[in-house]
Amino acid sequence: GPGPEAGEVIVDWFATAARDLPWRRPGVDGWAVLVSEVMLQQTPVARVEPVWREWLARWPAPSALAAASPAEVIRAWGKLGYPRRALRLREAAAAIAERHGDVVPSSVPDLEALPGIGTYTARAVACFGYGRRQPVVDTNVRRVVARLVHGRAEAANARAADLADIAALAPEDDDRAVRFSVAIMELGALVCVAGTPRCGACPVRERCAWRLAGSPAHEGPARRV
Ligand code: ADE
Repeated sequence: GPGPEAGEVIVDWFATAARDLPWRRPGVDGWAVLVSEVMLQQTPVARVEPVWREWLARWPAPSALAAASPAEVIRAWGKLGYPRRALRLREAAAAIAERHGDVVPSSVPDLEALPGIGTYTARAVACFGYGRRQPVVDTNVRRVVARLVHGRAEAANARAADLADIAALAPEDDDRAVRFSVAIMELGALVCVAGTPRCGACPVRERCAWRLAGSPAHEGPARRV
């Protein structure tokens, strides 16, 4: 594969090209990161930003959200979509208040044990909220790995191997490895996008297995005639 040098290049690219998003700023706590990740999973950044600010102003700690009624929480979710997420976040908040003294846990197993928190969200909170070295694999990251490492146009279904691929790309230095996790996600969101990627703007285009293979088209499922 392209190896850790590609990861270093992606971290350097992130320093110059990343969006300045409020949940990535220094001093944001685990709770703020958890709320952001649940909102961002199925809703674009621009729509999440104002609602995320409102939620944290209104419910600055998990116990505060847990004390709100389900109806209030759904109303505050507004137009983010998939409102069941709001109720699941409230359930997780209640468990954090009860089991963890109102502090979002920092270990992946503790996070995964919370109701409604999957492996993506658990890793994202550990990494972005607490600076833990963790591979964080979402749809964007899977697509980057499919192209950069495996030479395929698009990601296949979720593969357990993606975690190992990401770990192999991550820089050795722990701080840079933490930044790498968000950097490769950003690369997939801004440059290595679904459909036609913006390879001219890609910092690792010279090392990309897909480009080196001549950018073959996506092999979809066999079509019936
Ligand atoms: N930064 C950290 N996590 C993110 C996400 N899920 N989407 C966009 N930016 C992020």
